[in-house]
Amino acid sequence: MFSCVFREGNTYKNLVNGQWLESKSGERIKIYSPVDDSLVGEIQAQSKKDVDFAIDSAKKAQKAWAQTPISERANIIHKAARIMEKYEEEIADILMKEIAKSKSSAISEVKRTIDFIHFTAETAKRMTGETIYGDSFPGFDKTKISLVDRVPLGVILCISPFNYPVNLSASKIAPALVAGNSVVFKPPTQGSISAMYLGQIFCEAGIPAGVLNIITGKGSEIGDYLITHPEIDMINFTGSTEIGHRISNKAGMIPLLLELGGKDAAIVLEDCDLDETAQNIVKGAFNYSGQRCTAVKRVLVMEEIADELANKIVEQVEKLSVGKPEDDAQITPLISNKAADFVQELIDDAIEKGAKLLIGNKREKNYIWPTVFDNVTEDMRIAWEEPFGPVLPIIRVKNIEEAIEISNKSEYGLQGAVFTKNIDKAFAIAQKLEVGTVQINNKTERGPDHFPFLGVKASGLGTQGIRYSIEAMTRSKAIVINLDKDLQ
Ligand code: NAP
Ligand code: G3H
Repeated sequence: MFSCVFREGNTYKNLVNGQWLESKSGERIKIYSPVDDSLVGEIQAQSKKDVDFAIDSAKKAQKAWAQTPISERANIIHKAARIMEKYEEEIADILMKEIAKSKSSAISEVKRTIDFIHFTAETAKRMTGETIYGDSFPGFDKTKISLVDRVPLGVILCISPFNYPVNLSASKIAPALVAGNSVVFKPPTQGSISAMYLGQIFCEAGIPAGVLNIITGKGSEIGDYLITHPEIDMINFTGSTEIGHRISNKAGMIPLLLELGGKDAAIVLEDCDLDETAQNIVKGAFNYSGQRCTAVKRVLVMEEIADELANKIVEQVEKLSVGKPEDDAQITPLISNKAADFVQELIDDAIEKGAKLLIGNKREKNYIWPTVFDNVTEDMRIAWEEPFGPVLPIIRVKNIEEAIEISNKSEYGLQGAVFTKNIDKAFAIAQKLEVGTVQINNKTERGPDHFPFLGVKASGLGTQGIRYSIEAMTRSKAIVINLDKDLQ
């Protein structure tokens, strides 16, 4: 039995082959808080040798783990969720410091993750295979029977982004593990410390050595080595479209699950409940300062009601507090100055090209005040690019056809929202939108986490969501029985 001590002081080690190890290179990365530049801790900068050892350990451990009865695997997963409750406050505290998430959102990320892990264990226990008889195909009879089971893929490389370092990591790791895979987990560098708690809780829950391994280090340095490693059987990635493309270009003939960027549009029709719509749009656009793949990233509103909607949006935005995570401010600093520079570029471009600034365009370091533009036109970058920050463009449209056209012109296709009291119109629009999910009368959002979650076009490949994730990280295995025809 190995000890589960994942840090010494504020230096964090990595779980590899059941032990908490330092990098063989001896190098570390200092993680500073985006809130006040204070040192949050130091993580290991792992080398290619560390990667080889982690993947080799995962490969060796996977076969025995796959043979472990699913109820036993599920018990360990459940236990990990219970252990996570013990760390709830500690993890939320680190999330506030490391990625500047507001206190209530940080707590909610941890609670949601605990629920996610339990639900995953339960779902896996209830998943079954199928029996198919040959006689439904012409020329065959019931003596030919296919028993179709689902089997694990092997070693899954899980890579997660900074904005939900705990939840979007657990939502890969737990389904992968419960399905009988082993995991090599690469957390986002800014977010590694929060994510490392997952190693700690699974270690305490008794995950066998080598079944879950963590690799930290900059994606720009070890990413390519990881994604092209011949012993990786599948990559489950959430992050930017840029890195998603890179992975799909470089990885070999292995399954990929990619959840990437978005430019979710809220289409607002004349007959909607304007107050509710404005509230939804503002929450959707500005939660965690807009740093969510599913944030509302543009509003396409019918001209007739555009003034009224814009006023109501501004009324809501005026109420948003800007400040520190520990004060539970709604708008907290962006993840880095570089991210804030990018958002500012989009704001400046919109102003230069004549967008009407309704509120915002104030910046101090990596704090960007919530900003809303009206009269945004298609020549502006903010109409198409994902700011990953607190900026909302309003584009006025003449009719539903124009709204659908602009929505579908985007390279992205994550989600869309339609606000109207006319369910027939909503349904007709929903069917035409080129996205993974359409929300009717609600902001775009991922949860509840057992729903399918997917992006089309540049927003992704494959489907997540508890059962869907388990399916994506397993494959069909058919055993065909050929009965003696004479005995029938
Ligand atoms: P990112 O820069 O793409 O990073 C995501 C992860 O990829 C990080 O762990 C990063 O490591 C790693 N990485 C970087 N270069 C790599 C390489 N060459 N090979 C392998 N991995 C590499 O994204 P982010 O800034 O963390 O997150 C924001 C983006 O994620 C936004 O575009 C957002 O829309 C998207 N997102 C999508 C979803 C969804 O479900 N659709 C959910 C959340 C976020 P380092 O941190 O070390 O660079
Ligand atoms: O950033 C992407 C997340 O998957 C969004 O999840 O809609 O629950 O904030 P959320």
